[in-house]
Amino acid sequence: MTSAHQVLTDQVVDSFANAENARLRQIMQSLVRHLHAFALDVALSMQEWETAIGFLTATGQMCDDKRQEFILLSDTLGLSMLVDAINHRSVEGATETTVLGPFYVPPLKELAHDSDISGDAQGTPLYVASRVVSPDGQPVAGAWIDVWQADDDGYYDVQKPGQEENLRARFRTDADGRFSFWSILPTSYPIPTDGPVGKMLGAVGRHPYRPAHVHFMIGKDGFDTLVTHLFIEGDQYLESDAVFGVKQQLVVHLDDRDAGWTGTGERIGPHKRLEHTFGLRPAALAS
Ligand code: BEZ
Ligand code: FE
Repeated sequence: MTSAHQVLTDQVVDSFANAENARLRQIMQSLVRHLHAFALDVALSMQEWETAIGFLTATGQMCDDKRQEFILLSDTLGLSMLVDAINHRSVEGATETTVLGPFYVPPLKELAHDSDISGDAQGTPLYVASRVVSPDGQPVAGAWIDVWQADDDGYYDVQKPGQEENLRARFRTDADGRFSFWSILPTSYPIPTDGPVGKMLGAVGRHPYRPAHVHFMIGKDGFDTLVTHLFIEGDQYLESDAVFGVKQQLVVHLDDRDAGWTGTGERIGPHKRLEHTFGLRPAALAS
């Protein structure tokens, strides 16, 4: 950095010196230092600066109460997973966290165990048999579990105009920490590409796909709310998730089964079975 650049950077950093909020001061000063160092590192041209301003403006203009393009940008730059890692250190016996994503729409209808959440969606039947425990292996009874996933075509219900709510529900664990439901196999799908983030991915030759997964959010008083997914083993995008959300611990194997019955007595023929135990982090454990 030449001394003229350094003088400018120092001057801007100093302009925050009197901020009463010490944390805000630290964040703004560090942001300015890194932003200036970045512009110098790439020798940002005027035209590139204008392109960047245009990109950020378009990103904001794409946002409304249903679409959050800035979070999508954070996701595709790996920032969401970095912030997640900073705030959720690994705890032995506790399930790893990953991104929330934009398709969680609470509140979800609570259903009985072994209900079928697939509604009118077609696909390979999937039975999920699961348990929620504390890190010492004790069952967590009465925990709520919100589940949501894409259909066989890779779309969430909220992405399809006129589609009734399906492939999402709330369950509650029994005394043994168990819950179970029927669904269909999710598929890999592209994140929304009709905005600036999609253009950015295209311009740099990155694909927009996420490997097939089911979302879970699990809560119970006294525990941190767990936001995670389970990814299906063997998916072609596990190594190149567009939002960097895959953790090895969250990749699950499915078994083949011949037949099973829903909670309402409907017979389901050949299907996949997913068995998984989730571990919740006691709230007392600081991140
Ligand atoms: C999702 O898995 O639903 C998702 C996560 C991040 C960005 C887009 C979609
Ligand atoms: Fe998803």
